[in-house]
Amino acid sequence: MNYKVIAFDLYGTLLNTDGTKDACVRYFGDKGIELVSLWRRFQLEFTWLRSLTGDFKDFDEITADALVYSIELLGLDHTNELVEDIARSYLDLPAFDEVGTVLARLNRNFETMVVSNGTPSSIKIAVKNAELHSSLNYLVSASAGGVFKPSPIAYDQIFGFTACSKAEILFVSSNSWDINGASTYGFDTFWVNRRRAPFENLGARAKYVGQDLNDLMILLDA
Ligand code: LAC
Repeated sequence: MNYKVIAFDLYGTLLNTDGTKDACVRYFGDKGIELVSLWRRFQLEFTWLRSLTGDFKDFDEITADALVYSIELLGLDHTNELVEDIARSYLDLPAFDEVGTVLARLNRNFETMVVSNGTPSSIKIAVKNAELHSSLNYLVSASAGGVFKPSPIAYDQIFGFTACSKAEILFVSSNSWDINGASTYGFDTFWVNRRRAPFENLGARAKYVGQDLNDLMILLDA
């Protein structure tokens, strides 16, 4: 293994998107729990659909659009203030338990980067709020080319930050659609299967699989 750079997806991989639950439940009680997963599902779906149509909007706007749609789908009411307040919880997502320690360890021997569909400013704030900033060398907004992961154009953005070759980069994500995209692009990949889910049947598969980032640390002997 000759990896020099470890590239991490952000939402769902380093940060727990279920961290929006408190805000959702505060406004909608039990329905708020359903809202958390619906919201995430449509947030992702809208990024892919806009990538296909070419009618690009940034990840913050899409996150708000998906929130409004999911609330309406559940038959609930909303105001602009409510949407802004709940959407803000995306900036304050907690890191999964092992992430801080593992990133700090890995960053002693590897360059580390976030490669997320998020906007540059939201990625920066979220990483800072989760106190991960000191263990990450680069924050890459994959959607800077006007299209979202898993488009190859999104993975291309990485090479604006590092001179390393594809073979020297290990791409890490908990999202199997992202692992499929990164593997198809030509990266070696590590799938963090936090939910013990089956891998989506999309073609290319992960080179390595682990349950959390501790397994990545063991793999890399860090
Ligand atoms: C990311 C999300 C969409 O790119 O998982 O961080």
